[in-house]
Amino acid sequence: MKNNLNNTALNDLLFPVTADDFLNSHWPEQPLFIPAQPTKLQKIFSIPELKTIEALVKARTQKVRACLPDFDDEYSSIQLEPKDALKAFNNNMTLVFDQMQNQNSVISEMLANLTDELGLVIGSSEQNLCQARSMAYATPEWCGTRLHFDANANFIIQISGSKKWTLAKNKSVDYPTERFTTGSLEMPMALEKQCHDQLLDAAPADAVEYLMQPGCVLFVPRGYWHETTTDENSLSLNFTFSQPTWADIFSKSIHSHVLNNPEWRKLCVGIGQNADELQKQTALKQFDLLMKKTLIEISNTSADELLTEGGF
Ligand SMILES: [Fe+2]
Repeated sequence: MKNNLNNTALNDLLFPVTADDFLNSHWPEQPLFIPAQPTKLQKIFSIPELKTIEALVKARTQKVRACLPDFDDEYSSIQLEPKDALKAFNNNMTLVFDQMQNQNSVISEMLANLTDELGLVIGSSEQNLCQARSMAYATPEWCGTRLHFDANANFIIQISGSKKWTLAKNKSVDYPTERFTTGSLEMPMALEKQCHDQLLDAAPADAVEYLMQPGCVLFVPRGYWHETTTDENSLSLNFTFSQPTWADIFSKSIHSHVLNNPEWRKLCVGIGQNADELQKQTALKQFDLLMKKTLIEISNTSADELLTEGGF
């Protein structure tokens, strides 16, 4: 049974920092590096498949992602059968083992407890807004990831070997809802609108470096710049959480609310590219009317009622 009151999973993960200190002073915006502590996280370090990279590959039944050397970013990757994964690793490709919670009960229990203790909004089962997941990263020596930031929050446990992390505060965008990697030729439109300054193309002078060694734990908040390098083979285990925003909660709730009205469920016609001017004007008028009527309804609805409609 989960022990919500004692925040057991967070206390175990962050020791000697307490869950209370973390929740008050770091979560969700301030990074935290915790040097290795003896006898910490023994349940995780006892997992047989995390003993070596070979053991991890051998225990794998699902596919493994291998990062292509062209861009040193995990989004440039291919899916491999586990039998081919070591070959890729030995050819300097980082391996990403997605959904580790599906293959190990210690990891799935820790993930569920962390989700709970962090107070993350999940929503209904089909929404699954925080998309809690665990990934293992096997990074060969002299590899790493180029400078980027993520739209999710990450807790990293260094299992074996070491990895150097460089972290820097993001001064170009607050609370980004998209990830970005330096050198990318395209930027998501949503992110472009969210930026108030030009994004970095290299780590700034005030970046901070941490050497992750076995047992070290790192919290990287959403939007925080980071890059990594290794000078030996490295294995780490991540717990990753999407960050459900007020905008997500609002839009999901409004969506559920308006779907109760058959007028909103009608096919949307007249605003497609092929619509003529008359169709477009009629459609805009209809939409405007519907929108204004709904806004009045919403203004008379309490937050609690709306959230209930949204399944929260
Ligand atoms: Fe990242």
